[in-house]
Amino acid sequence: MSMLSGTVVTIERFILEQERQHPDATGELSNLMYDFALGAKIVAAAIRRAGLINVLGSAGNTNVQGEEQQKLDVFANNALTNVMGHTGRVCVMASEEDEELIPIPPGWPQGKYAVLFDPLDGSSNIDVNAAVGTIFSIYRRRSMDGQGTLADVLQPGSRQVAAGYVIYGSSVMLVYTTGNGVHGFTLDPSLGEFLLSHPNIRIPEVGKYYSVNESNFGRWSKGTQRAVRGLHGDFPDLIKGKNSRYIGSLVADFHRNLIAGGIFMYPADSKNPNGKLRLAYEANPMAMIVEHAGGAATNGLERILDLEPLALHQRTPLVIGSRSDVEFVARVLRDTEG
Ligand code: AHG
Ligand code: MN
Ligand code: MN
Repeated sequence: MSMLSGTVVTIERFILEQERQHPDATGELSNLMYDFALGAKIVAAAIRRAGLINVLGSAGNTNVQGEEQQKLDVFANNALTNVMGHTGRVCVMASEEDEELIPIPPGWPQGKYAVLFDPLDGSSNIDVNAAVGTIFSIYRRRSMDGQGTLADVLQPGSRQVAAGYVIYGSSVMLVYTTGNGVHGFTLDPSLGEFLLSHPNIRIPEVGKYYSVNESNFGRWSKGTQRAVRGLHGDFPDLIKGKNSRYIGSLVADFHRNLIAGGIFMYPADSKNPNGKLRLAYEANPMAMIVEHAGGAATNGLERILDLEPLALHQRTPLVIGSRSDVEFVARVLRDTEG
């Protein structure tokens, strides 16, 4: 599957081929993935120019077309809302950037899916030119017809029909699953197309890296402190020590650990009793991806995908990555605190 041999698999072709293996599929979900790919390209184009936009923005906050400059997370939110809301495939949307549900614009047809997204993840990294991402999660609607409701987006993660993310890194990649393997596509900037580059991603059983914000160490529970000491290599009889990597962008930290093997944690601390990350559009989609790649995700006590969401922006502690490392942390937490 190389450009050199002249055989490329675009994301569109890949989606069509997957669908042909499921004769009962209507193609709607596939098209929704393709809509996200378009949204990702729009966001990627803006991120690539971010430094330049800031320079222009500082001269009066309007661009050459006379439009007001927007912060990139607002831009990304608008871009995705716009793309996803005009497809006829979605009945309601929810985003980190909107307190309430986002309805489909009046007059546009309602579809059978509910979508949630974190339009720009790791946005504090934008100013320093480090990797950021977009996360998305898709459910089949529960309400019968008309406008979608909160019940459509507040479903346990195990009911997701698709989940994915885009990483705007040294290259732009889209990684997704519809429950049939985890597949990665790299944006070829000269073609403007996502090409299949990482079919059937499997996360190593044991990881090389651990990723956690250690500045919170003093605010963690005894169990969390003990688990991280284990990752340092303090208990060689239980677990081999790992190397530390932390970017502060869930998508980037997760992606590295998915490919190279590792564990990411954002545990509870005395300031944030439920951690920092959001269940519906951060933890759940990553949990679906990691499980389909052979890894695991827990809040320390329960599987992330089993949690019953009660509020749109609810937070959850998150421990996610290589299966045996996640099991180690969960065991330490259970033994110390359970
Ligand atoms: P967002 O930019 O969508 O608000 O998310 C930021 C999140 C997540 O990407 C990252 O894992 C975490 O914040 C980092 O938090 P700390 O700076 O507390 O480590
Ligand atoms: Mn985020
Ligand atoms: Mn965000």
